[in-house]
Amino acid sequence: MASTCTFPLFLSVSLHLFLATFASSSEADILLSFVGSIVDSSSSLSTWSSSSSPCNWTGITCSHADPSTTLLSVTAVDLQSLNLSGEISPSICSLRSLTELNLANNLFNQPIPLRLSECSSLRVLNLSSNLIWGTIPEHISGLSSLRVLDLSSNKVEGKIPESIGLLSTLQVLNLGGNLLSGSLPSPAFKNLTELRVLDLSLNPFLTSEIPPDIWSLEKLERVSLQGCDFYGEIPDGSISGLKKLTHLDLSQNNLTGGVLMLASLKNLVSLDGSQNRLTGPFPDGICNRNNALVTLNLHTNSFNGSLPADSLGQCRSLERFQVQNNEFSGDFPSGVWSLPKIKVIRAENNRFTGEIPELVSMASQLEQIQIDGNGFTGKIPHGLGKVKSLYRFSASMNRLAGEIPPNFCDSPVMSILNLSHNGLSGRIPALQKCRKLVSLSLADNSLTAEIPQSLADLPVLTYIDLSANKLTGSIPQGLQNLKLALFNVSFNQLSGQVPSLLISGLPASSLEGNPGLCGPGLPHACPDQDSSLRHHTGSLAILAPALISIAFGIGLLMFTAGFLVYRKSSKQKTEKITWHSVFFYPLRVTEHDLIAGMNEKSAIQTCGIFGRVYILTLPSGELVAVKKLVNFQNQSPKTLKSDIKMLAKIRHKSIAKILGFCYCDDSIFMIHEYLPGGSLGDLIRQQDFELKWSERLRIAIGVAQGLAYLHKDYVPHIIHRDVRSNNILLDSELRPKLTDVALDRVVGEAAFQTTVASEAASSCYFAPECGYSKRATEQMDVYSFGVLLLELVTGRGADARGESGDSVNILKWVRGKINITNGALVILDTRVSSGCEPEMLGALDIALCCTSVTPEKRPTMPEVVKALQSLSSGSCPQSLGFSSSEEHQLPV
Ligand SMILES: *[C@@H]1O[C@H](CO)[C@@H](O)[C@H](O)[C@H]1NC(C)=O
Ligand SMILES: *[C@@H]1O[C@H](CO)[C@@H](O)[C@H](O)[C@H]1NC(C)=O
Ligand SMILES: *[C@@H]1O[C@H](CO)[C@@H](O)[C@H](O)[C@H]1NC(C)=O
Ligand SMILES: *[C@@H]1O[C@H](CO)[C@@H](O)[C@H](O)[C@H]1NC(C)=O
Ligand SMILES: *[C@@H]1O[C@H](CO)[C@@H](O)[C@H](O)[C@H]1NC(C)=O
Ligand SMILES: *[C@@H]1O[C@H](CO)[C@@H](O)[C@H](O)[C@H]1NC(C)=O
Ligand SMILES: *[C@@H]1O[C@H](CO)[C@@H](O)[C@H](O)[C@H]1NC(C)=O
Ligand SMILES: *[C@@H]1O[C@H](CO)[C@@H](O)[C@H](O)[C@H]1NC(C)=O
Repeated sequence: MASTCTFPLFLSVSLHLFLATFASSSEADILLSFVGSIVDSSSSLSTWSSSSSPCNWTGITCSHADPSTTLLSVTAVDLQSLNLSGEISPSICSLRSLTELNLANNLFNQPIPLRLSECSSLRVLNLSSNLIWGTIPEHISGLSSLRVLDLSSNKVEGKIPESIGLLSTLQVLNLGGNLLSGSLPSPAFKNLTELRVLDLSLNPFLTSEIPPDIWSLEKLERVSLQGCDFYGEIPDGSISGLKKLTHLDLSQNNLTGGVLMLASLKNLVSLDGSQNRLTGPFPDGICNRNNALVTLNLHTNSFNGSLPADSLGQCRSLERFQVQNNEFSGDFPSGVWSLPKIKVIRAENNRFTGEIPELVSMASQLEQIQIDGNGFTGKIPHGLGKVKSLYRFSASMNRLAGEIPPNFCDSPVMSILNLSHNGLSGRIPALQKCRKLVSLSLADNSLTAEIPQSLADLPVLTYIDLSANKLTGSIPQGLQNLKLALFNVSFNQLSGQVPSLLISGLPASSLEGNPGLCGPGLPHACPDQDSSLRHHTGSLAILAPALISIAFGIGLLMFTAGFLVYRKSSKQKTEKITWHSVFFYPLRVTEHDLIAGMNEKSAIQTCGIFGRVYILTLPSGELVAVKKLVNFQNQSPKTLKSDIKMLAKIRHKSIAKILGFCYCDDSIFMIHEYLPGGSLGDLIRQQDFELKWSERLRIAIGVAQGLAYLHKDYVPHIIHRDVRSNNILLDSELRPKLTDVALDRVVGEAAFQTTVASEAASSCYFAPECGYSKRATEQMDVYSFGVLLLELVTGRGADARGESGDSVNILKWVRGKINITNGALVILDTRVSSGCEPEMLGALDIALCCTSVTPEKRPTMPEVVKALQSLSSGSCPQSLGFSSSEEHQLPV
C-alpha cells in the first residue's frame, strides 16, 4: 500500500494521470479495473462482466446524472456484506457521477485509502464493519460534498483530524467502535452545522473533554458518546438549544484508556480513573424546547448534584431514562414517574431522595424500574400495581416503609421483585395475579405474619428470599412443588416441620435462625414423626409423584397394548391396514420389511418420550433407524406429509437426516439415517464417560450450530422443542446429530402438549416458562441446550442420582453447589478437567446464561455458537489463572 502514503504533491500528478487514463474509458472498464484489485472469495460479483451493461451488475445503481441527457451513469456502488477483501482502489473515483460508495461489512484489511478523497462528488461513504486500520487522513476534507461518513466498527486509530471541520455538509458522522485516541479537535465541530447524527461511541482511548461547540449544533438528533474516555463537565444551559434531539447517550465514560490498555497487556495494575469521568451536574433545559427526546442515558459516570426536575418532567416522548451509577443526589425528578411513554427508569446506585408518587399509575408503558441503593422514602404507592406492563421492580436498599399494597403484583408480566433491605412492615400480600413472577426478594425488612400459601401457585417462582424478617407460622407445604433455585427464610420466627422435599436440596443457612423449625438435619427433630408422616401421606406432596407414576404406568400399558394389537393385526390381516410411504432417498424397502424387522431385538435402549427406536437392516444391507410414533392426534395426511417433507428438507451437518416415513391410521414410522455412536445421553450416563473436554466442546458447538441453523437460517424457522442429550446421536467420529426435530409438527400440537406436559413437570430440560407460555419460543430451546451443556461440563446426566440415591435435577445441583460451596470448580467433571478448567468454567458460564430463569436474559443460539467457539481457541492451555468463583453469580 505504498500509494496511500505518498506525498500530496505526487498525488495531484497521479490524479492527472488517472483522468487521462479513465476519462475516456467506459464506466464498465472503470468498474472492472476497480474490481480487479478486490478478492471476491464468495464469487458474489460474477455478474460483473463486460458482456452486459454495468447497470445490471450486482450492487450497481444507475440513474440520469444529468437530467438533460437520456444517458444512464453509475451513481451508486453498494457492495456491502459480500465477504470482499483485497484492496479498495481509488480508480473508482473516475466515475464522475458516483455519489454513493458502500463497502460496509466486508473483510477489507488496509488503511483508509487516501486517494478516495478524489471522489469529489461522493455524498455517502460507508466503510463500516471492515478491518480498516491506520489514521483518518487529513485529506478526507477533499470529499467536499460528503453527507454521510461511516467508518464505524473498524480499527481506525489516532486523532480525529481537524480538517474534518471542512466537511461542512456532513449530516451523519459515525466513527464508533474504533481505536481513536487523543482529544477531539474542538473548533472543527463548530463548522458541522448540518450534523444530525454524531456517533463516536466505543472508542476507549478517546480521552477528551466534550467540545462545547457540539451542543450548539442545532440539527443534532442522535448523539452517541458512550463507552469512551470523555471527562469534564457539560456547561450549564448548553443543551437547551438542541430542539430535535431524540437520543443522547453519554454512558460509561469510565473506561480510562490507560486502564484498558494495561488490562489488555495482561498487566492488571488498577489505576484510579475517578478524575477522568464526566462530572458536575447535568445541565438544565433538555426538554424545555424539545419534545422529541426518547432516550437519555447517563449511566456509569460521576455526574453529581440534583437533576433538573422541571425540564425532565416535560420530556413527553421519553422512553428510556438511565442515570444509574452516578453520584446524583437530591429529590428524584418526580415528573419522570408519570411520563406517558416512559418504559425504563434506572437510577440505582445514586443518592436520590423522595417518594414514588401515586401518579406513577399514569405511566402506562412502564416496564422496568430499578432504583436500588438510594435514599427513597415513603410507601410503595397503590398506583404502581395499576401499571400492567411492569415486569421488574427493584428498589432494594432504600428507606421505603409501610405495608406492601395488596395490588402490588397485579401486573400480569411481573417477573422480578426486589424490596430487600428496606423498612417495610405488615404481611406479605397474596400475590396471586403475577403468574410470571420468577424472583421475589423481601429480605431484611420487618414483615410479619405467615408466608402466604398462594406463593406455591405461582408456576415459575424460582427465587424466594424472605430472610431477616419477622415471619411466623410454618413453611407452606406447597412450596416444595416449585422448582426453586433459592429459598431463604433464615432469621425469622417460623416454626413447625419443614416440608420434606424442600429440606433435602437446601443449604442449612437457608433455614437457620428459626428456633421453632424442626425436621431432619435441623437442630430440632420434630416432636412426633409418626403422626406427621400420616399427615404427609394424605398431602398432595406425596400424592403427586404417585399420580405421575401411575399415569406413566398406564401410558406404558397403553403403549404396549397398542403395539401388541398392532402386531397381531399385522400378522392376521395385513392387507386391511393401508400403509402409505414417502421416501426422500432411494430406499429399497417395503412397509412389510419394516414391520417385520421391528421387534424386541432391534429396539434400542433409548426411548424418547414419543416412542421407541428400532435399528433395522434393510435388504440392501443398509442400516436405518426407525422411530415408531403413536399417532395420537389424527392429523390430515396432507398436513402430515407436508410437515414431514418440510423437516426432511433440512440439510445441516448437525441434524440427522430423515430418509422417509410411512404412516397408517394409528402409527407413523420415521426413518432416519443410522448413527453408530448411539445417543449422547447414553454415553454420559456410562460410568466410564471419559470423553476429553475438547471432544465435548466440539459436540456442544455442533449441537449449537444445528440449533442456530434451525432458529435463524432455515425457512421456515423451526424450534426443536425437545433438546436433550437422548436426542443427540453421534456418528462414528462422534459428530453430533440432532434428532426428533420439531416433533410437534408430526404428532400435532395437542398431542405434543399432552405428552410434554406430563413430562415437563419432572424434566429439568424444560424452561420454567413452558409451564405457562402457550407459544413455543427459541429461548426454550436455548434453555434446554444450557442443561445439555451442564451435562457435558459436569459429566452428570441431567437426572443423575444424588449422594443419597434420589434423582437430582442437574440445575438444582449446580446452583446448589455454586451457592453453598462457593466454588464452581467442584462442579467440573474431574475426570477430564485437568488443564481445561478455564475453558470449562467458560462453558459453565455460558450454560448458566442459557438457563437464566428469565427468557429475555438468555443468549440466542448464534451468540452461543460464537461464545463456545471463542472458548475452543485455547485448546486447554495448561494452568492459566482461571476466574474466581465469585464471578459465578446466578443470572436471574
Ligand atoms: C439488463 O438491462 C437491460 C436494460 O438495460 C434489460 O433489458 C436486460 O433484461 C437486463 N439483463 C438482465 C440479465 O437483467
Ligand atoms: C461469507 O463467508 C462466510 C464464511 O466463510 C459464509 O458463511 C457466508 O455465507 C459468506 N457470505 C456470503 C454473502 O457469501
Ligand atoms: C453503513 O452500512 C452498514 C451495513 O450495511 C449499515 O448498517 C449502516 O447503517 C450504514 N451506515 C449509514 C450511516 O447508513
Ligand atoms: C469552517 O469552514 C470554513 C469554510 O468551509 C473554513 O474556511 C474553516 O477553516 C472551517 N473551520 C474549521 C475550524 O475547520
Ligand atoms: C466502568 O463501569 C462498568 C459498569 O459499572 C464496570 O463494569 C467497569 O469495570 C468500569 N470500568 C472502569 C475502568 O472503572
Ligand atoms: C460534584 O463533583 C465536583 C468534582 O468532583 C465537585 O467539585 C462538586 O463540589 C460536586 N458537586 C456536588 C453538588 O456535589
Ligand atoms: C436484591 O437486592 C439485593 C441488594 O441490592 C441484592 O444483593 C440481591 O442480589 C438482589 N436479588 C436479586 C434476586 O436480584
Ligand atoms: C440466607 O439469608 C441470610 C441472611 O440474609 C444470609 O446470611 C445467608 O447467606 C443466606 N443463605 C443463602 C443460602 O442464600
